[in-house]
Amino acid sequence: MAKNLVVYFSVYGTAKNIAEEIARQTGADIMEIEPAVPYDSNRDHYSALAKLAKKEHDEDMRPAMKNEIPVAEYDNIFIGYPMWWYTFPMILYTFFDKYDFSGKTIIPFNTHKGSGDGGTYRTIKRLEPNATVLEGLPVEMTAAERGDPERIKQWLMRICPNL
Ligand SMILES: Cc1cc2nc3c(=O)[nH]c(=O)nc-3n(C[C@H](O)[C@H](O)[C@H](O)COP(=O)(O)O)c2cc1C
Repeated sequence: MAKNLVVYFSVYGTAKNIAEEIARQTGADIMEIEPAVPYDSNRDHYSALAKLAKKEHDEDMRPAMKNEIPVAEYDNIFIGYPMWWYTFPMILYTFFDKYDFSGKTIIPFNTHKGSGDGGTYRTIKRLEPNATVLEGLPVEMTAAERGDPERIKQWLMRICPNL
């Protein structure tokens, strides 16, 4: 039987909400990408986080991960993250650099405040040419706060009815 994993990176908790809902509906295992240096999740400190994220992006940084994700043990891997500065947080590059996704199926999802997926699903296809990348699900932040179970259900039925 195929093994399914939901991996997510989330600072304010909305991508985590979606990740948990996907795991609930599919029975997949779930793991968080934990940064070696934690980001400030206090929303009152948004400008400091925005500044740090911009620096990481502009300097093409690869923030270190604290944990390992056992990608090799799984067949289908959901990968979720927020939009940061019109793309995914730079730690996602760390994650994609670190693991071999050859022959695996990647199913992306993300949270955002208007940018949709910002072209990141295409970026994943470019970074992982030997993986199959299925249609992703962008979820606006307010909907993501609620978990958006019905939309996730419809999406899952459309892209992977056999999961
Ligand atoms: C540093 C930073 C940059 C962001 N840049 C964008 C952006 O370019 N486009 C967008 O639609 N939303 C942007 N957002 C909004 C986040 O994508 C949104 O709040 C998301 O739901 C956060 O996910 P999380 O709760 O899992 O951390 C940004 C948020 C932060 C903190």
